[in-house]
Amino acid sequence: MKAFNDLADFSSEEISSLIELAGRLDAKPEPEALKGKVLSLLFLSPSLRTLASFQAAMTRLGGGSFVISPDMSIHGLETRPGIVMDGTAAEHIREAVPVIASYGDAIGIRAFAERKNIETDLEESEFSALIDLIDTPYINMESAMNHPCQSLADWKTIDDLGIPANGGRFVLSWAYHPKALPLAVPAASLHMAAQRGMDVTVLRPEGFELPQPLMQKAAAAAEASGGSVVETDDRREAMQDAHVIYAKSWSSTRHYGDRLADQKLREEHLDWCVDEPWFDNAREDCRFMHCLPVRRGVVVADGILDGPRSVVIAEARNRMLAQMAVLHQMLGGSS
Ligand code: CP
Repeated sequence: MKAFNDLADFSSEEISSLIELAGRLDAKPEPEALKGKVLSLLFLSPSLRTLASFQAAMTRLGGGSFVISPDMSIHGLETRPGIVMDGTAAEHIREAVPVIASYGDAIGIRAFAERKNIETDLEESEFSALIDLIDTPYINMESAMNHPCQSLADWKTIDDLGIPANGGRFVLSWAYHPKALPLAVPAASLHMAAQRGMDVTVLRPEGFELPQPLMQKAAAAAEASGGSVVETDDRREAMQDAHVIYAKSWSSTRHYGDRLADQKLREEHLDWCVDEPWFDNAREDCRFMHCLPVRRGVVVADGILDGPRSVVIAEARNRMLAQMAVLHQMLGGSS
């Protein structure tokens, strides 16, 4: 495996095989599998889970890792192309990224969306420019429109719950958040559920429709897997017989890059906080998923997060296991 950039690059059989390996590495640890291997981790955007789970994954497999982020004690990093560097930044990513990559056998990169221009973000312009600077195997640790590590872990979490692929009902719901957030997780989880063969409903208020290219990509995956994808603003219709609600806030597509217009629109939907009444007509055992971090009392009520519906901690632990499987395959793990 030369790259782990998008679940769409893998067949369902390949994904199942990764998930099986993740389960096997959990049940039967391989502490020598990646002995002597090094993973470089470049975080141009903040993290808790991704940072900690990749480091833990490498350690559990007998390898090592190091982390670089702009808020560490490094020379200021310039990211803009063609800039005259007469300001505070003393190092350009054009040198820093290949240097960091050269110290490892593979590199993980996180770079959130700029959220100025939707076309630029949909094209993954920034992430592609970073990848063009390296020739080592790489892992997308969250780019403008993707978070494949989260989606692999989420697929495993849904499998662990015994939710059927075909016939499983997955609701991806927008939730209120005071800030305009990236589209990476909604884009990735929408595609993951469609690729898994589930009946997917995107539940969102008007103005928060997901961009058409993301919906079309998911619809194509659903067609291939026997699933379906629909979109609605009707909560009761969406939640009917749902197995899973996956909550996430995201930016308004209509006002992408316009912070004030986005904020004005989202403030009309303060009541989009997942709570028990949302589950009235869902399956009795309908589960609540979220990639974390999550704002309590804003995105979801405490009672849901602390109650039996929530699987957010299992989801987060599955990040480590799923990434162990990816690293094992990418770095040629031997038992
Ligand atoms: N879910 C997730 O990627 O968490 P972090 O942003 O903390 O890494």
